Amino acid sequence: MIPASTLWTVSYTVAVIALAASAAGIAALRLLAARSVATSLIVIAAVSMAATLAGVVVIAMEMFISQEDLDVVLTVVVIAGIAGFAVALLLGRRVSAASRLMLGAVQEVGAAGRYRPPPAVLPADLAGLSAELEAAHAQLAEARDRECALEASRRELVAWVSHDLRTPLAGLRAMAEALQDGVVTDRPTVGRYHAQIRRETDRLTLMIDDLFELSRIHAGALRLSRARVGLGDLIDEALTSAEPLARAKGVVLRGSAAGGLPVFVDAAELGRALRNLVINAIRHTPSDGAVEVLADQDSGMATVSVSDSCGGIPEHLPRVFDMAFRGATARTPGPGEGAGLGLSIARGIIEAHAGQIGVRNAGSGCQFVIRLPLASSPVTARRDLQAAAAGSTPPAAGLGLADD
Ligand SMILES: Nc1ncnc2c1ncn2[C@@H]1O[C@H](COP(=O)(O)OP(=O)(O)O)[C@@H](O)[C@H]1O
Ligand SMILES: [Mg+2]
Repeated sequence: MIPASTLWTVSYTVAVIALAASAAGIAALRLLAARSVATSLIVIAAVSMAATLAGVVVIAMEMFISQEDLDVVLTVVVIAGIAGFAVALLLGRRVSAASRLMLGAVQEVGAAGRYRPPPAVLPADLAGLSAELEAAHAQLAEARDRECALEASRRELVAWVSHDLRTPLAGLRAMAEALQDGVVTDRPTVGRYHAQIRRETDRLTLMIDDLFELSRIHAGALRLSRARVGLGDLIDEALTSAEPLARAKGVVLRGSAAGGLPVFVDAAELGRALRNLVINAIRHTPSDGAVEVLADQDSGMATVSVSDSCGGIPEHLPRVFDMAFRGATARTPGPGEGAGLGLSIARGIIEAHAGQIGVRNAGSGCQFVIRLPLASSPVTARRDLQAAAAGSTPPAAGLGLADD
C-alpha cells in the first residue's frame, strides 16, 4: 500500500510536469498554427510522450526504483509513444490527403464552372464543407443560367423593339412627306393618311408605355398602391372594357366571380394584367368562339381563370411569358397587335402581388390561371401589412401548370 503522502507527491509532480509540457505544446501549436493538421497532430503526440517520459523519470528518481525497473518502464513508454506517433502520422496524412482532394475539386471549379465533390470518403467536417460548397455552387449555377436567359431575352427585346419602332416610323415619315410635298391632295386619301398617322401614333404610345412598365417591373421599381378591393369588381371592369372588342369579333364573352373575393392589391395594375389576358383571349379566339373568365377561391388564394377557344398553343406554351414573344415568326405586328410585352407585364404585376400566373392547354383552347392571396386570411393579413409598409411584395415562383 502506497502511503498517502507519497501518492500526493507523485500526483503533484506529474501534474506540474504535465502542465509544463502542455504549456510548451500550446506555444508550439500557436507557432505552427499555419502549418498542416498533420504537424499539429505530431506536436500533440510529442507533448503526451514527453510529459509521460519526464513524469516517469522524475518519479523513478524520487522513489529510488532500480535501474532495471526504470528501463522496463521507459521501454514501455517509448513503444507506446511510437504507437501514438504512428497513429498521429496516419491520421495527419489522411486529413491532408482529404483536404488536398477538396482543394483539387475546388481548383477544378474554374474549368468545369461547377464544384463536384471528390470521389472519396471524407472526414465528417470536410464532407459537410464539401456538401455546402456543392449546394452553393448549384445555386450559383442556377442564378447564372437565369441571368444568361434574361440577358438573351433583353438583347432579343432590344432588337425586336427597334424593328417594331422603325417600321411604323418609316410609314409615318412616308405619309407625312407625301402630305407635305402635296403628292396626295384628294380629300379621301388625305383623310385616310391622317387617320392612319393617328392610329400608328396611338399604337407607338401604347408600346412605349408597355416598355416603360416592363422596365419598371425589371428594375424592381414597380410601386404598388394597395387597397382592399373585390376581385369580382376588377374582373367586371376588365370584361366591360373588353366587351366592344368581343362584339366586334363576334366572340361570346362570359364571366362570373364567386362572392366579392377580397384581395389587397393595386387595382390599376391588376386591372391592367386582367385586361391583357382577356384581350389576348378574344384576339386569339375565332368568331363564334367563347371566352370565359371564372373567379373562385381555393385554400386561402383567389383564383382567376381565363379560358379561350384559340385551339391551344402547341409548341410555344412555355415561352408565352417571355419578353417580346409573339408566337409568329413574322415580327411586324399587324393592326391591333401588341409588341409581345403584355404577358411579361402581366406576370410581373401578378408576382409583385405575391401571386402566380400559369398557362395550360385545356379543351378547345388555352387557359391562363392567376392565383392571388386572399385579403381575409390571417396569414395574408400579416403579409399585407408588411407589404404595405415595404411598398411592394417580393416576386413568387411560376405556377408551372402542365400541358394537358
Ligand atoms: N389567349 C391566348 N391564346 C393563344 N395564344 C396566346 C394567348 N395569349 C397570348 N398568346 C400568345 O402569346 C404571345 C404573347 O402575348 P402577349 O405577351 O400578350 O403579347 P401580344 O398580345 O402583344 O402579342 C401572343 O403573341 C400569342 O402568340
Ligand atoms: Mg397581349
